[in-house]
Amino acid sequence: MNKNKISIVILAAGKGSRMKSPKAKVLHSICGKEMLYYIIKTSREISDDVSVVVAHQKDAVIASMSRYFNDINFVIQDALNFPGTGGAMKNVNIKNERVLVLNGDMPLLQKNSLDKFFEIQSDIVMSIFELENPSGYGRVIIEDGQVKRIVEQKDATLEELKVQSVNAGIYAFSKKIIEKYIPLLQNNNAQEEYYLTDVISMARNDGIKITPLLVDEEEFKGVNSKKDLSDAEIIMQEKIKNSLMESGVIMQLPSTIYIEEGAVFEGECIVENGCRITGESKIINSHIKAHSIIEDSIVKNSDVGPLAHLRPASNLEDTHVGNFVEIKKSTLKGVKAGHLSYIGDATVDEGTNIGAGVITCNYDGINKYKTTIGKNVFVGSDSQLIAPLTLEDNVMVAAGTTVRSGTIYSGELAVSSSKLRVIKDFYYKFFAKK
Ligand code: UD1
Ligand code: MG
Repeated sequence: MNKNKISIVILAAGKGSRMKSPKAKVLHSICGKEMLYYIIKTSREISDDVSVVVAHQKDAVIASMSRYFNDINFVIQDALNFPGTGGAMKNVNIKNERVLVLNGDMPLLQKNSLDKFFEIQSDIVMSIFELENPSGYGRVIIEDGQVKRIVEQKDATLEELKVQSVNAGIYAFSKKIIEKYIPLLQNNNAQEEYYLTDVISMARNDGIKITPLLVDEEEFKGVNSKKDLSDAEIIMQEKIKNSLMESGVIMQLPSTIYIEEGAVFEGECIVENGCRITGESKIINSHIKAHSIIEDSIVKNSDVGPLAHLRPASNLEDTHVGNFVEIKKSTLKGVKAGHLSYIGDATVDEGTNIGAGVITCNYDGINKYKTTIGKNVFVGSDSQLIAPLTLEDNVMVAAGTTVRSGTIYSGELAVSSSKLRVIKDFYYKFFAKK
């Protein structure tokens, strides 16, 4: 399909009051990205002319989408004077002969399904599905096999409310239809809004054929509530994980794994049960063991966990990180940190062993400081490394040492533990007192 033949308009100006949230509906996150992100991404695969209509919290919506896309036309709806989905279309400038109108609250839409709207030659193609419980949707009134009009829930008669064919809310229009009928829309309905759906009955009255297209409910279901949001996230998770497994990632009990859109895997990777991998994490030829969390980090030729936590901007290569190790904004190359450590704002070089319970004390209550650890350093268990600190190559730190800020030079041993006292029979005297 030629990208230049179709324009796309995404309606994203509504309040989304059913979400019961101070945040704009389309900015709620699904698998780490705002739901509007997904529909813009899919739209850009289909068209070079993508407009997004905004009004409610427009600055926040524009700012967050501008982080991902630089070629979107943002159109501002005059929501005060022209509220409703029809009002949203008023200021839109369409470049091509056909236009697909999408809703910003449909993050699960796929390109293949949207392509079908253009395979049909018709001035109006509208999406329909059948629901046992059609509540909340516009009902599609069909007579003699022809779509006559759409009645919104709040305007419907008792008879019309029983209709189970509903408007999924996605349409393909010829440009001339939009140009002719949008200016003619009226707001004499229960919500006093300008309904895009009224274009259907107006065009029909002028003898224009409306082509219904049956669509998949799960994919075209709008997100209107927080329950819908979590349902959509479950479906999106399945998609992300299935596609990763198809491309070669091994997952144990995938239903217990959470991986955000944007995480990338290369080579042979294993992800065990209960892991959470978020942001723009990149995992290359690595084994992520059970219940580990990786946030916005790179892991290459390494094994992590079980129960490890890599916080943002960690970069591991040829490294082993074990149980209860937390790493933040640190680069570890050829390192072993097997147990119970916190390594923050640090770089650690090849051949270095971080003993159990080692803590980089990177924060003095006001500022954060760096720790630099060279090659082949042996840091004994239960040591505190108070930053700013450099341990040069070939340094030893005795177990239980507190290394204060400064530099330990190559070849040196740092030891701060006090001399051991052994007091004979102390135990028996102590408990005899009781
Ligand atoms: C709309 C349809 C309904 C259909 C349903 C499918 C109308 C009048 N009704 O109802 O027939 O069954 O979608 O999901 O079109 N929006 C704006 N500006 C506004 C109002 C809404 O841009 O002034 C945007 C919203 O951000 C949203 C989309 O339009 O992305 C749909 O709005 P929503 O309020 O969810 O419409 P529904 O009541 O669900
Ligand atoms: Mg809706």
